[in-house]
Amino acid sequence: MDSIKVFSPGSITNLSCGYDILGLCLQNRGDEITVSKTNKKGIIIKSVEGYHLTKDINKNVAGIAAQALLKNINVNYGFEIEIKKGIKPGSGIGSSAASSAGTVFAINQLLDSPFSHLDLIKSSMEGERFVSGSYHADNVAPIIIGGITLVRSIESIDVIKLPSPKSLEVIIVRPNIEIKTSDSRKVVKKKVKIEKMVQQSANLGSFISSLYTEDFDLMSKSVVDEIIEPDRSMLIPEFDNIKKISKYSGAIAVGISGSGPSIFSLSNNSSTSNKILDNITSHFEKLNIDYDGFVSKINTTGIKILETK
Ligand code: HSE
Repeated sequence: MDSIKVFSPGSITNLSCGYDILGLCLQNRGDEITVSKTNKKGIIIKSVEGYHLTKDINKNVAGIAAQALLKNINVNYGFEIEIKKGIKPGSGIGSSAASSAGTVFAINQLLDSPFSHLDLIKSSMEGERFVSGSYHADNVAPIIIGGITLVRSIESIDVIKLPSPKSLEVIIVRPNIEIKTSDSRKVVKKKVKIEKMVQQSANLGSFISSLYTEDFDLMSKSVVDEIIEPDRSMLIPEFDNIKKISKYSGAIAVGISGSGPSIFSLSNNSSTSNKILDNITSHFEKLNIDYDGFVSKINTTGIKILETK
C-alpha cells in the first residue's frame, strides 16, 4: 500500500460528568486525510483545505502527532499528508483530534500496523497538548477506538470502551464563534469543593451504569455538570436558553460539547432529535445568530478507511 485515505470523525467529550475522561465518536462530521509514502524520508503536509491552518509540521497537530509516532520506528521512506478539514477548528467537536488521530492511524496502516490503538492515542495526544496546553485523550480515544470511551489514565494509557445504546443520538448545535481550547481551559477552576467532587463522581458512576442498562431516566439525572459548566457556559451565547429549549423539546440531557461553543443534547428517538434541532435552530434564527447544527448516531467503529492504493 502506497497511499491511504481515511475519514476521521468528530467527537464530543466530557459529556458533562466526565471532564477530560469521557468521549463519544460522531458519525457525520469529520476530516478526510490522505497519507502517501514518499521516496524522501521525513514528513510533509502537502495541503490543508477547508479552513486556513498552517502546513508547518511543527505547528500543525497532524505533523506533531506524526512525528511523535515515527520517533519510535526506523522507516526508510517518508510521508506526505493531505488534509481536507470537515470540522471547524475551535468548535468543540474535536477538530484537532480528528486531524492528529486520522494522520497517525493512516501512517500506521501504511507501515502494516506495528502500533497498537494505545500507541496511536499516545502520539495523537501530543497534538492535543500543543493546541490546549495539556495532555488529554478524551477526544482521540473514541475516534481511534470508536463508540463511547472512558480514559482511566493518561500516564500509562488506559482506555475503556463503554457500551453505546443503539437508540442513542446526539444533537449538536454550534453558534458560529470560535473558542480556543486553551482559553476555555483557563476558565476551569483548579480547586473543587469536596461536596461537588462527591456529586460529580456519583454522576459519572451512574452515567456509566445507564449505558449498560439503557436506563435513560438515570442517564438524564447523571449527565449533569455543576463544576465546569457554570464557568464555561458564560463563553457560549444563549447557552441557558438553549438548554431550556432542548430539555423542553424532550432531550435526555444537554451540556457543553468539549471546550465549546458546541452544545450537545442526547435523545433516544429520531423524531425527538429532529424536534430538538428544529427548536434550537429556530431560536438562533430569531436572534439572528449564525449556527451549524446536525443530528448524529454514535459511531461505534471510529476512523474509517475510504481508499487505498
Ligand atoms: N476535555 C477537554 C476540555 C476537551 O474540555 O477542555 C477539549 O478538546
